Formats: sequence, C-alpha cells, structure tokens
Amino acid sequence: MLWLAQAAAILAIHLTKVGAAATLYPNATNPNPSNSTNASELNDATSPPYYPSPWMDGSGQWADAYTKAQDFVRQLTLLEKVNLTTGVGWEGEACVGNVGSIPRLGFRALCMQDSPLGVRFADYVSAFPAGGTVAASWDRGVWYQRGYQMGMEHRMKGVDVQLGPVVGPLGRSPEGGRNWEGFSPDPVLSGIAVSETIRGIQDAGVIACTKHYILNEQEHFRQPGDVAGYGFVDGISSNIDDKTLHELYLWPFADAVRAGTGSIMCSYNQVNNSYACQNSYLINYILKGELGFQGFVMSDWSAQHAGVSSSLAGLDMTMPGDTAFDTGLSFWGANLTIAVLNGTIPEWRLDDMATRIMAAYYLVGRDRTQVPVNFNSWSLDTYGYEHPYASMGYGLINQHVDVRAEHGTAIRSAAARSTVLLKNNNALPLSGKEKFTAVFGEDADNNAYGPNGCSDHGCDDGTLAQGWGSGTASFPYLVTPLAAIQNEVLQYGSIIQSVTNNWAYTQIEALAKQASVALVFVNADSGEGYITVDGNEGDRNNLTLWKDGDALIKNVTGYCNNTVVVIHSVGPVLVDAWYNNPNVTAILWAGLPGEQSGNSIADVLYGRVNPGGKLTFTMGASRTDYGTDIIYKPPNGHAAPQDNFDEGVFIDYRYFDKNNIDPIYEFGFGLSYTTFAYSNINVIKASAGAYTPTTGMTLEAPVLGNYSTNPADYQFPSNMTYVTAYIYPYLNSTDLSKASEDSSYGLPTEKYIPAGATDGSPQPRIAAGGGPGGNPELWDVLFTVTATIANNGTIPGEEVVQMYVSLGGPDDPKVVLRGFERLSIQAGSSATFTADITRRDLSNWDTATQNWFISSYPKTVYVGSSSRKLLLSSALNI
Ligand code: NOJ
Repeated sequence: MLWLAQAAAILAIHLTKVGAAATLYPNATNPNPSNSTNASELNDATSPPYYPSPWMDGSGQWADAYTKAQDFVRQLTLLEKVNLTTGVGWEGEACVGNVGSIPRLGFRALCMQDSPLGVRFADYVSAFPAGGTVAASWDRGVWYQRGYQMGMEHRMKGVDVQLGPVVGPLGRSPEGGRNWEGFSPDPVLSGIAVSETIRGIQDAGVIACTKHYILNEQEHFRQPGDVAGYGFVDGISSNIDDKTLHELYLWPFADAVRAGTGSIMCSYNQVNNSYACQNSYLINYILKGELGFQGFVMSDWSAQHAGVSSSLAGLDMTMPGDTAFDTGLSFWGANLTIAVLNGTIPEWRLDDMATRIMAAYYLVGRDRTQVPVNFNSWSLDTYGYEHPYASMGYGLINQHVDVRAEHGTAIRSAAARSTVLLKNNNALPLSGKEKFTAVFGEDADNNAYGPNGCSDHGCDDGTLAQGWGSGTASFPYLVTPLAAIQNEVLQYGSIIQSVTNNWAYTQIEALAKQASVALVFVNADSGEGYITVDGNEGDRNNLTLWKDGDALIKNVTGYCNNTVVVIHSVGPVLVDAWYNNPNVTAILWAGLPGEQSGNSIADVLYGRVNPGGKLTFTMGASRTDYGTDIIYKPPNGHAAPQDNFDEGVFIDYRYFDKNNIDPIYEFGFGLSYTTFAYSNINVIKASAGAYTPTTGMTLEAPVLGNYSTNPADYQFPSNMTYVTAYIYPYLNSTDLSKASEDSSYGLPTEKYIPAGATDGSPQPRIAAGGGPGGNPELWDVLFTVTATIANNGTIPGEEVVQMYVSLGGPDDPKVVLRGFERLSIQAGSSATFTADITRRDLSNWDTATQNWFISSYPKTVYVGSSSRKLLLSSALNI
C-alpha cells in the first residue's frame, strides 16, 4: 500500500508539475497589492520539476567535512545508510527526533531536539529570549552569544541537531502564530540574525537546523487534515512569484546557507501547490542548486507525503520517520532499502543523503563534542522507558544534567538590550524611591499553575515570556516583573502594591488613585497551530491586547496620571486606543524575554540599562494597515487553501511606505534615555569587478561503496527484539513486492520517475549559484558608507544606526534596510557608523535570466534612526 502511495505521488508530480508549470516562476509578476481582491495571477500556481537532485561537492567551508563524510559513508552497508536517513518513529526514543544507529561502527543514533530558544522538553535548561525579541537588540554579539549558549546546552544534553533558528515564517502577516520564533519580517535583519545564531550554535559543536523552508507563514491549514465542518482539507499552498521568493523570503535562507547551517527543515505547507518537502524546484533547484546548500534537508514532523518522490526531490532525512505518528510504517526505512535495491532511487542519491548528514556532523565537530543523550523528552522522571511509545527498555532515562552554566546573566542582559522604549514623557528611568509604586496586570505575576504548568506553554496565564508550541523550552524559574520591581522598591523602603486580576475594577481604581507611578503589564500571545489558546488556533485572531489589556490601561489611566505601560507580546499589537493618552507617560515593548523577564525589565525601568532596542516590525493603527492577513476558513471542497502572496515584496514597513499609511511606531523605531545627532555621511566607492554568472558543469555523482543486491541480506535479523511501531531498514520478505506491500510492484520503473531524476552525470551549474548562499560575487563590496553619530545627551547610551537603500525602480519599495550597527557612545562623544553595501544589496532578481542584476534606476543610500527617520542621504553612483 505504501509503495502504491509513493508511486501515485511520483506520478502526480510527473503529471501535474511538467509543462505549463515550468514557466510560472520566470513569468510571474507582482500584481498591485491594492488589487488583491481581483483574480490573482498566482491562483492555482504550479511548481516546475527540477531533477536530478544536486549532490554535494564539498564547496566553501565544507571541504574537510565532505572528505570525512565520504570516508565514513564508504564503509556503510545499504541498511546503515538508510538508517541515517530515517527516523525511528514518534516517541521511539529520547529526543523529539531520532534516526537509527550504526552499532557496528559504534555510531550512536543522532538526536534532533527543539527548540529555537533553548532545549525543549528537558529539565535544568535555560529559557532564552525568543528570536523575535533578541532581534530588537540589533546586536550581532547578542545573537552570537545566545546561539552559542543554546548550542552548549543542547550539546551537554547530548543533542546533535538543534531544531532552530527560524526564518520561516518571516512574518508576512503580524497575526502569524509562530512569527516570534523567527526574527523579523525584514529579510536583511533576519538574515544577519540567523547567520550569527547559526555560527553560535555550530561553534558550540551542535548542528543548527534552520527552518521552516519555506513560506510557512501561517498555522491554519499548514498540514492536510480534517477541519470541523469542512471535512478533509489539503495543506495550504503559499503561492508566490519568482521575484518575491528571491528578494524577500529566500534571502535569509541564503544567508543561513552562507553561514554554513548544517541542516534545513522543509515545511508543512505547499508552495505553488507542491508540498515543500517534495518540491523538487525548491529543494533541488533553489536550495541545493542555486544556493549551493551542502548540508541535509530534514522534513518537518510528518511533512513527508511520499517516499521515492521526496528522495528524488531532494529530501535527505525524514522526521520523525513514520508515515504518521506511530503507524509503525514509513515512506522510507524498508521502502528506501527496496527503492535502492530495485533501482527506483539511484545509489548515488542515497549516498548523497548519507554524506550530507555526516558532513554536517563533521562540519561542527560532533565527532569531538558528542556526549550520550542524558534526558528524555517524554518524561522528567529519572527512570522510565528508553522507547517511550512502545513502553520498552525500562531504565535510567534522565540524569538531570544542569547545563545552564552562567547563561542567566546573558539572558537578562540580552532581554534588557532588546527592550524598546516607545514613549517617554520624562517618566523613565525610575529611581525606586517613588513614594508609592503600583503594579497592575496578570502579566506582571506568576502563572498559578507554575511557569511550565501548561503543556508546551499552551496558555496565557501569568507573565508572558515565550509563546506556545514546539518553539519553547522549560523555564528553570521565571523571574516575574512584580518580584523584580518589589526587590527594587524595597531597597529604598518605599511602598509597592499590586492588583494582578485584570477584572478587579474596584481594587484597580482604589490602588491607581494612590499611586505615584503605575506600572501596567499587558500582553498578546500566539504559538504553534496544534494548540488553541482562547480561541486562537496558533495564529492570532486579532492584534488587540489579551486579557482585556486595553480596559486595564483605561482603568488605571483614569486614576493615575503617571502610568507606564509594558507590553509583552509576540509581535505588533494595537495601541491606538491609549498610546497618546497624556496619562500614559511611558511605553516599553519587552517582547518575550525568557526566564529573567522581571530582572531585564527592572534593569531598564530603573536605568541600569539605557534602552537601545528598536522595533523589528511596524506597529500600525489597525490590522488592515498591514495589507496581508491569515486565511482562517478553508475553501469549500477538499482543495488546498490558496494563499496568494499578491503583495509581492511589500510586507510590513514596505507596505506602509508604499501606501502612505502612517504607522504608530515604525519599523526601526526606539527611544533612549539620551539623544543622538546624525551628521557627515560619506560614501566611498570600492572597486569591484563586473558580475560573472557561474558557468560550467558539476562533477558526476559519486557512488560510495558497493552493496549487495541479494534481498536475503536485508532481512530482519532473527535474534532481534522488535520494538513496537519502531521504524527499521530491514525487509520482512525476500520477495521485494511482498516486502513493499505494493500490489503494483514490478511495473516499469521509468513510468514513475520524473525525467532526469536518476541521472548522475555532470550537470550544468546555475548562473546565480557557485558558492554557499549563491554566486560569491553577490557579496562583493561596492560602497562603504560612514556617518558620525553624536550622543548629545547627558548619559551614555547605545544607538542602533540603520542604513537603508532606495533601489529606485517603480516596483521597488521606497527604501529597504541593508545594514545597521549598534553603537555605544559616551555622553558628549561621537562614534563612526560604518556599513558596506554589497552587489546583492543593490540588485533585483531578473526572472528572465534567472540571476541578480543592478537596474539603471538611480539609487540612494540613507542613514537614519528608523525606517522613517532617514536623517542623512547620498546618491550612489554606480
Ligand atoms: C513541528 C514543528 O513545526 C517544528 O518546528 C518542530 O521542530 C517539530 N514539530 C518537532 O517538534
């Protein structure tokens, strides 16, 4: 049956993806977003086939790892190679994902573990600030250090692959449930943040898994399944044109590849009506071809929908390995063994899958840094089952290794440095000596169920310091804002009281009347779609504050004319009802700060840290101002929801700018307790040569070792204890047709295989490719920009100086971010801002030549303090 499913899926690819589809990417245009209600050119988009799957060649920093990986793979049997690629099934072993082991060579099974902000499902770990929060520090050092410390914690727990960082979702719509796991809807900011994070994780000796590739921009319908009232609905299709793909969503993935990410997770959704984990165009052509990705592509959990076609389309590892959780069946495992034995999948493709996995292993030094897995995702108990789903192998499963080191200090500082001061009418910083401090809001206090009291953090109770779902980690503790503020105030013997029930109107009024300063904590949460919180199925239903936050602010400001609002949120929230109320004397956005939440905000409130964070998204006056939204209802019938990205590259500030919409707080905005002056822009032209498209041919696909073609060599060992629902590479019959359980077995294989998919001969290299991330000349420096930034206030401060570029064409955004630097400047002193402008920074994607080019439109560089405060400018003479 499985085999039939595979065959059908291959056939489907073959029949629907060839032909007219092949021209979609090159010819698509960006329809005017204001016409988005009209029939879209992207409707029912298709994705062209691209085969064969590129084999790794050890380019860039991968040379050494490639040689080692080849040496290792050359020693493996067919079964052992298969074992490296296929997960053992959901809850089959200790980690959220585990592949098979190679006992003969003393190679233990690889362990894949969430999350992008710490080790999920483990004790004695740190809960770091979320990606979307640290992004607001605009600080490369903060990103690297967080990556390194997260990597170290994974490493000490025995994890081989950390399932993060995230740049998909990028954040197309602010309601997107998992935006906070990633960094920012701006591709350049995201690209730099993801690169630093990857370097940090991998320098710690753990493989980073950059996810989710690609266009997983909403939670609703991300997977096929039954929807109440609608029946079965296919996974959503994010429909996109070639230019938008390259100029926006692919950009940070290119940076991740250039930074050397060892693995990339393909996403649940479809792209142009082809599932991302078996989309040959996206994996073979774009990721492994054009971007030259050398590591391995891992499926999201159950995002694989067919066996042979996913392998030929470039998938290298299936997670968690079973067709659906705990079916005991796999599209790979035994079926992959058979597919190689019968020639449906060429040996070089399996060799390439195994080589890519092992190369990532060697690249980050796993051969030197690996320790035994010493925790268990499925239980915090000391003793339990090694194979939790099967309840087999009782013994020591959790050694409670404390891996936190001194990370709490950096977490506190990172969150404080990421806090954005949005408004300050001389209310901040506080001294702690205020006569009467009043704290309001459930968001200031503990969750009555404990910081980890809701499964996968699927609730919004107490102070919000991370979202919900697989992008979370257990809190070792959670310092609440109330506790930290109380510590502060009590040092001076002042008075502090709180009301943390948002609906205790009488008590709120009574306390607010007495306060000399009121600190109001409000929040907005979101998370992964498999959990629904307060009616929000992952994606937010709206952009308003949760728990009646607006009413709370209104009730406090009605009685206290010195009200400071602190927002803990997953992204933009609507503040228009109160932000310019004169009784709101200060506003801070603190994001999702992690375990040290209270200490971090107290550091800012009481002036130990002068705020320097800036918004990494736009805060608009209404949700419609963003021009994009979530699809909440499926179409009638069983068709996949069609999510047409008609707005093209115009998301977030680019959309606001294009449509002349005034934001409340723009992208890049943030205040300080001091002030800065910008002057003296200077542009130096560098001498870069002309751009040369990559040409030539690859080598032929290497074949590593021999394998027996005798099915008798692949049978289940007779002395083996079979673990229930576990996925093995072995066959249960010497008759391949019986072993595959496929009634159509034996039909000519050509019928099922897309043209060229098994061809291991040298292939043309891609013009826009040629190195990790793309053509190396894209990173040639064309200009270096400098400016003078003076701190003209009275205290030291840090300023995130931003460089934007106008590409000048009628279809280009007004400006796009291209560089930034966070400068630390003493009062009365100045510092020099410096940033390079690369060829890539000035290029557009040309769909006809399938390459980057610099248009002849006049280009301008701006240096400023936000996307709307473009204080200095200069023409760029190319
Ligand atoms: C599904 C999520 O989409 C992915 O991000 C996560 O890594 C896996 N589950 C494993 O938990």
